[in-house]
Amino acid sequence: MPSAQPSSIPSFLYGTAWKEDRTPALTELAIRCGFRGIDTANQRRHYFEAGVGQALAAAYRAGTVTRDDLFLQTKFTYQEGQDHRLPYDPAAALSVQVAQSMASSLEHLGTNHVDSFVLHGPASNSHWTTGDFETWQAMIKERDAGRTRLLGVSNISLAQLRQMARAHAEPPAFVQNRCYARLGWDREVRAFCREHNIIYQGFSLLTANIEVLRHRLVAGLAAQFKASPAQIVFAFARQVGMLPLTGTSRTEHMQQDLESRSLELPPDAVNAIEAIAG
Ligand SMILES: NC(=O)c1ccc[n+]([C@@H]2O[C@H](COP(=O)([O-])OP(=O)(O)OC[C@H]3O[C@@H](n4cnc5c(N)ncnc54)[C@H](OP(=O)(O)O)[C@@H]3O)[C@@H](O)[C@H]2O)c1
Repeated sequence: MPSAQPSSIPSFLYGTAWKEDRTPALTELAIRCGFRGIDTANQRRHYFEAGVGQALAAAYRAGTVTRDDLFLQTKFTYQEGQDHRLPYDPAAALSVQVAQSMASSLEHLGTNHVDSFVLHGPASNSHWTTGDFETWQAMIKERDAGRTRLLGVSNISLAQLRQMARAHAEPPAFVQNRCYARLGWDREVRAFCREHNIIYQGFSLLTANIEVLRHRLVAGLAAQFKASPAQIVFAFARQVGMLPLTGTSRTEHMQQDLESRSLELPPDAVNAIEAIAG
């Protein structure tokens, strides 16, 4: 698999979950604010992917960006994670469901390829199943056919990543996980990613870590760097090698989140934040 070339991967991803009817306007606003990476999923229960497509069309029409300026990421979601609005025939084989989901995503997004196609989560919490094996092989076929540049996997444990690496010749280019400070900021999975040249995408960096945002160390750094606690967390995430996601609905937070890229925390501050909660 072509590894993820950092130059073609944006340094922040705008997440489009839970925005429903506001998806087109908020996604277009995020692009106008400067986001070039968009994360969505063909899972109508939590995402309105066609609404992302409407935003893209509007941004192209307005001349804000072209398709080539953007990094578009979507996901294949098993039926268990969906509601009744399925983007595939649930009676079909998993390999067919993957192809149908991808075809529907391309239609929603008005493109002939995405930049990253992510398995939303393995079928089981405990291991990499034969179903996951079939699904991943089908995703590789989509990549080989040029419908995605790169592949990823989400909501995955270290044990499952190890099983996946043993089962398949090709590792993912991305892992996308919820990142809890109290679980060491997913340290073991991040270490595995580093060793295998996988880019770790962290989500819920703010919402899963309210205690960090209120921590006096973070408050002190925020005062020192004239930044917000949220910006300190995003700067920390980037400095430990993560590609962060944000799903903010507010213009000023979109701007602040992007501006956090120019914050450079001293190594001892990074180590101290990493140690806050284990
Ligand atoms: N793979 C998966 O299973 C999975 C699961 C969940 C999420 N995701 C992806 O990750 C994306 C982000 O989700 P998330 O859980 O990280 O975040 P989120 O649910 O979008 O929430 C971000 C929260 O942080 C606040 N916020 C953002 N920037 C801020 C700032 N500078 N200062 C203060 N508050 C700020 C936002 O409030 P305001 O809106 O008021 O700014 C919002 O309440 C989703 O949209 C989705 O694309 C993937």
